[in-house]
Formats: sequence, structure tokens, C-alpha cells
Amino acid sequence: KDKYVVFGNPIAQSKSPLIHTLFARQTAQDMVYEARLAPVEGFQAAADQFFSAGGRGCNITVPFKELAFTYATQLTERAQLAGAVNTLKKLDDGGILGDNTDGEGLVQDLLRNQVAIQGKRILLIGAGGAARGVILPLLAQAPANLVITNRTFTKAEELVAMFAAYGEVAGMALGDLADAPHFDVIINSTSASLSQSLPGIPSSLIHPEVVCYDMVYGQEQTTFNQWAETLGARQVIDGLGMLVGQAAESFMLWRGMRPGTEQVLRELRRTLQ
Ligand code: ATR
Repeated sequence: KDKYVVFGNPIAQSKSPLIHTLFARQTAQDMVYEARLAPVEGFQAAADQFFSAGGRGCNITVPFKELAFTYATQLTERAQLAGAVNTLKKLDDGGILGDNTDGEGLVQDLLRNQVAIQGKRILLIGAGGAARGVILPLLAQAPANLVITNRTFTKAEELVAMFAAYGEVAGMALGDLADAPHFDVIINSTSASLSQSLPGIPSSLIHPEVVCYDMVYGQEQTTFNQWAETLGARQVIDGLGMLVGQAAESFMLWRGMRPGTEQVLRELRRTLQ
């Protein structure tokens, strides 16, 4: 059987083994996928050992995504621009390809929810690693405009400069958002919901046509999505579908086929209850 793992620390909470096991079953692929705890200082050694023992590919989660970026001998453009790698694949020539499927996972989940990006005005809240990872795939969908806002505005400006050549991207301070034209889609990439806090955008941005997406997920509706729904957003979506979406893109990179996500997402939602 072809071997795949997910490296992280901690890793026990990871849903990737369940997701990929369901994908493998659905597509009748002869493979195994397991969780691997790597020591905080020992990612490289763990990855070396995995690949020299015949491992075909792995996912990488916190805190190793930047190390995996360095570990790869080749990078996809989206990984290069994300500055982080969540997927490694052993190549036939012995090299290791690094990819980042998080952004495409988000895009696919938006499209799955019938949320159009092309020609739309998108607001991205946050300017950390999670935001950086999704910008290129979002711009590839040709939005009318991608506006990046952040509590620490200089970090948003840095991302805007980094991606200016790739599409219609602009920065806007939180304090200026109330005067901006309406956004069609608002994506929260901050970790605010994890501490039951809000990312600080004005409530006037929530109108009956807006779709809000929180990259965080949990058993309960996220803090941001609760807020947006109460204010009358058309639709609120949490990040569980993005998790399944990034996994499907990784699976595609490894196995050359894209698994269906609907059933896996339903199964996963059940495990949260
Ligand atoms: P990640 O890799 O998950 O993006 P990160 O790089 O630490 O994590 O970035 C966290 C993001 O969430 C940042 O944009 C951060 O804002 P700052 O740059 O101002 O720190 C944002 N963030 C976290 N907690 C927040 C909160 N309570 N309110 C608003 N923004 C928050």
C-alpha cells in the first residue's frame, strides 16, 4: 500500500486521516494515511525518515508549514506565494514537491456553496499565514476587487504589495471600511473566533446580500458567523468545507483524481457533534 501521513504537533486532533481514508475508500485507492507527531525541533528528521522508508506524500499542519516550505526541493507557484507548504509529494526523480492547497480548498468550498467570486467584491480580514495562503487562488477567480483589512494594517499593506502583480488587490484600514462600497463576500481568516472575539469590522458591512465565510469551524457556530447571521447576512459558512477542500486538492496532487467532498463533509460534521 502507498503510504501517506500528516505531520503536526500536536496531531491527535487532526481530521486528515479520517478525510483521506474516506477519499481512498470512495475512489478505491490502495493507500494508507495516518497521523504522525513530529517533535517541534524534529520535522526535517521525521520527513527524511518517512520519505526514505518509501512514503509517497504527506500533509503538514501547525507548526511545520514554513519548515515544509524550506524542505521541498521544488515548489508550486501557489506554495511559493503562500510562503508555506501543506502538501509534500515524492517525485519520480527523488525530489520533493511542495504545494499549498489551502487556498484552492477555500475557493472550491465557496463554489460548492454556490458563492461566486468572479466579478465580485471580496473582503479578506486578517493578514497572517492563513490570509497569505488564500490570496493567489482567490485572485485566480478574477474578483472585481480583493480588499485586505487587518487589525495591524501594515501587515495588510505588505500582503497587498506582495500580490499587486497578480490581480485587483487593495488594502483598507478597519476604520475606513464603513465608507467602502458593499462587499459581496467577506472572508474571516483571523483566529478571532477561536477566542470568542470578533475581528473588528463595522456591522454596517453586513447586509442581506452578503455571504460571510469564517475559516474557523467548531461544534457551535463560530463567533463571527453568529454575529453576521444575527445582523442578517444572506449566508454564513464555516471552514470545515475548506478543510475537506484542501484535502481533496492534496489527494488530487498525489493520486491524479479529485474525490467528491459532499459525503465526507457530512460525515465529518457528524463527528463534531
Ligand atoms: P494564521 O497563520 O492563522 O493566519 P497568524 O499569522 O498569527 O495566524 O495571524 C493571525 C491573524 O489574525 C492576524 O491577522 C491577526 O491580526 P494582527 O496582525 O493584528 O495580529 C488576526 N487576529 C487574531 N486575533 C484577532 C482578534 N482578536 N481581533 C482581530 N484580529 C485578530
